Amino acid sequence: MSEEVRRVERVLPPVDTVEGAGVRLKRLFGHGQVPMLDPFLLLDHFGSSNPLDYEAGFPWHPHRGIETVTYMLNGRVEHGDTLGNSGVIGSGDVQWMSAGSGLLHQEMPKRIEGTMDGFQLWVNLPASRKMSEPEYRGLEAKDFPVVARPDGARIKVVAGSFDGVRGPVEGIPVDPTYLDVALPAHGEFTHAPPKDHTAFGFVIEGEGQMDPQQPHPMGPNHVGVYGVGDSVRVRAGERGMRFLFVTGRPLHEPVAWYGPIVMNTQEQLMEAVTELRRGDFIKHKKVTED
Ligand code: CO
Repeated sequence: MSEEVRRVERVLPPVDTVEGAGVRLKRLFGHGQVPMLDPFLLLDHFGSSNPLDYEAGFPWHPHRGIETVTYMLNGRVEHGDTLGNSGVIGSGDVQWMSAGSGLLHQEMPKRIEGTMDGFQLWVNLPASRKMSEPEYRGLEAKDFPVVARPDGARIKVVAGSFDGVRGPVEGIPVDPTYLDVALPAHGEFTHAPPKDHTAFGFVIEGEGQMDPQQPHPMGPNHVGVYGVGDSVRVRAGERGMRFLFVTGRPLHEPVAWYGPIVMNTQEQLMEAVTELRRGDFIKHKKVTED
């Protein structure tokens, strides 16, 4: 049987959005796309050379039922949470935060010269884990292996694996792959995630074909959502291409979504809002050792 190459079934353009206390960002997918990208809920790209676009940041707010994955390409985000974590997410760093039963945190980008650039991806938690203890993973740029190929391609492995090289983020319920792929001119990338796993690519810079039959090359700030098949094949154009490649096991569970809280039922959402008002939303205050 011949191998079936996954086709890009949908191309999602960016939607200008204002979030937090007034951060201008580009939303690639969110509430309106459920359940197309199950188990992924939301992808935001924030990037600007104007501090007024990001300095207001994301002051204290709650999360429950999801994981938030912040990946900084360039810049600094100061953060703090009710688990007792605080620090800076710097260039090349990743914060993989599992909110579980709930926490409050703040995420405040700091003014820099040049362009502040980063992503936040929301990964859903299975029903069985939505009320589990929060888990925090703060990883620095140096923690991530980079596969450097003879043709000049560089693949940074955040989660999952590439060419047998595993990323440091382990133990995530939806078994994700998260790669930052830089291809030279006409360079090629192939990957074979499990056939039923959701897969998408987000072009950071340059352009290329996210599947061999894509009629138009895809450019920056667009997401290509893959259909099912055996493998993904990407080919960069003449200027090369950098993109995020993300896959995960779909949950096939009902989604009830209210702002930063994503559960399975309306009752669970109302419970969360009541607890926030009453002051017993936080179930775990201190970070536990791994
Ligand atoms: Co948040």
